[in-house]
Amino acid sequence: MLKLGVLISGRGSNLQSLIDATQHPNFPAEIVTVISNRPDAQGLERAEKANIPAHAIDHKAFEDRETFEDAVHKILEAAGVELLCNAGFMRILTDGFVKKWHDKQINIHPSLLPAFGGIHVHERVLEAGARVSGCTVHYVRNDVDTGPIIGQAAVPVLPDDTFDSLSARVLEQEYKLYPLCVRLIAENKIRIVNERVVYADDAEFNGSLFAG
Ligand code: GRF
Repeated sequence: MLKLGVLISGRGSNLQSLIDATQHPNFPAEIVTVISNRPDAQGLERAEKANIPAHAIDHKAFEDRETFEDAVHKILEAAGVELLCNAGFMRILTDGFVKKWHDKQINIHPSLLPAFGGIHVHERVLEAGARVSGCTVHYVRNDVDTGPIIGQAAVPVLPDDTFDSLSARVLEQEYKLYPLCVRLIAENKIRIVNERVVYADDAEFNGSLFAG
């Protein structure tokens, strides 16, 4: 069982999808700790409900990013975390922290990277008139929303879409994609070669999902 730590900042619906996946008896990973930088994050309640140790580490209580991250890192180490999953975690991480978790930290982002990295993603997709959007699970590197892509799910952008309708369509795919990517890692079915993800021949998931 690969030991997962999950970093959140809010609602935690992707955390919930990981909790649900890990509750299946044949899922090769378990969540050993959840950390939120916001004490009021709804995701903390989801973790508690699932009997997963949940920690609120309020970044505002620390004098700088490094001391906040040290506190986070200590908890992750104590819990024996092997793969760190960012799920709606809204703090920028320092290079030092990213380095400590190099190739052991992944993120889910609600666009088809490298398009539309950053924030206000769905608004920008709609503004640009893009016809396809989706979500990406990728390894974390120093620059935000970069790093080797593990998997992507594509969805259509419909003419009458609003933020709510597009984000709901993308989220539905996020809930499928994140557990699939975690499974690939836990089953040792992928490698990073020259900063690209390479799949084993017998990988059950080839990294791409198409909806609609
Ligand atoms: C998701 O859209 C995720 O892709 C992005 O932030 C959102 C988090 O939602 N990084 P939730 O907290 O998982 O419900």
